[in-house]
Amino acid sequence: MIWHIIVGILIHILVQSQGAQAVSWEEWWTYDGISGPAFWGLINPEWSLCNKGRRQSPVNLEPNKLLFDPNLRQLHIDKHRVGGIITNTGHSVIFTVSNDTTSHINITGGPLSYRYQFQEIHVHYGLHDQFGSEHSVNGYTFPAEIQIFGFNSQLYTNFSEALHKAQGIVVVSLLLQLGDLSNPELRILIDQLDKIRYGGNEVEVKRLSVRGLLPETDYYMTYDGSTTMPACHETVTWLIMNKPIYITKQQMHGLRRLMQGDDKHPKAPLGNNFRPPQPLHYRPVRTNINFNVINKAAVGKQCPSMYKDVYYKANSWTPH
Ligand SMILES: *[C@@H]1O[C@H](CO)[C@@H](O)[C@H](O)[C@H]1NC(C)=O
Ligand SMILES: *[C@@H]1O[C@H](CO)[C@@H](O)[C@H](O)[C@H]1NC(C)=O
Ligand SMILES: *[C@@H]1O[C@H](CO)[C@@H](O)[C@H](O)[C@H]1NC(C)=O
Repeated sequence: MIWHIIVGILIHILVQSQGAQAVSWEEWWTYDGISGPAFWGLINPEWSLCNKGRRQSPVNLEPNKLLFDPNLRQLHIDKHRVGGIITNTGHSVIFTVSNDTTSHINITGGPLSYRYQFQEIHVHYGLHDQFGSEHSVNGYTFPAEIQIFGFNSQLYTNFSEALHKAQGIVVVSLLLQLGDLSNPELRILIDQLDKIRYGGNEVEVKRLSVRGLLPETDYYMTYDGSTTMPACHETVTWLIMNKPIYITKQQMHGLRRLMQGDDKHPKAPLGNNFRPPQPLHYRPVRTNINFNVINKAAVGKQCPSMYKDVYYKANSWTPH
């Protein structure tokens, strides 16, 4: 702990000596080393929740601890296509919806009490197939995770305001699994990667259907958490869809070619941009999967308790 503090102070001095004008705080964090996830909360006082927060994300999802909640509704995301910009930020690949879109994509239903407006998509992925996703299931991590961000458009005027306000943000999370055929909307994003090889590169994407990214399932898990990048604000309602979507080996390769820096100083590859799991600290993780109904259908008789094995088969979670 003392070591953490000393390193934190050192980083503080280092950052300040770079000059507040030249280097913005935003750039001073990474996914490894002394500016990595364990130190985010020490680098900048405004990011203290990254270390002190007790409602942080991501988390490891444990199927045998999920709570079925009959109040959870079907999630609704508008179908129409929107244009935007896809950027290599040096931390992640981010698609941001065009600000002159006349028809916003609304995200409603599920556990949400408000209407949310789609704002951006983040991609987290590994340099190897064994890890890359931020959320894990029973300790199993996926090669990538796509996070669809919306802000509470009934209470707040824009995304940056909502980020640090109560009930400000929803994130719909898709876990990615390797497959022979990729999700078609995912292809629209991945096809642009050659043009954003280096940090700071961006390119226009004309017509993307956010809804088209979702797997074919109405089932999800939900919990209250935080953003997984600084400042780690605890304002996020998370939904993790209960089926993966697919990405090809070749597409993963395209992601792994991206670099953090510019073409003159490419620095390290962008991949491995995931935060490790955070403790749940007694938060419930709810689901709209009614285990009893699924078990009855699968086994043909009433089951008094949850059979996680049957559930896994019923929802094709089994990693392959
Ligand atoms: C959209 O963003 C661009 C660049 O940030 C800005 O120049 C433009 O005025 C914005 N348009 C609207 C409609 O807000
Ligand atoms: C999204 O919600 C706003 C506010 O209710 C509404 O004006 C708009 O038409 C909705 N968008 C769609 C595509 O339904
Ligand atoms: C977001 O809304 C706040 C409050 O209305 C405003 O002060 C801020 O300038 C807006 N930010 C952007 C990026 O539009």
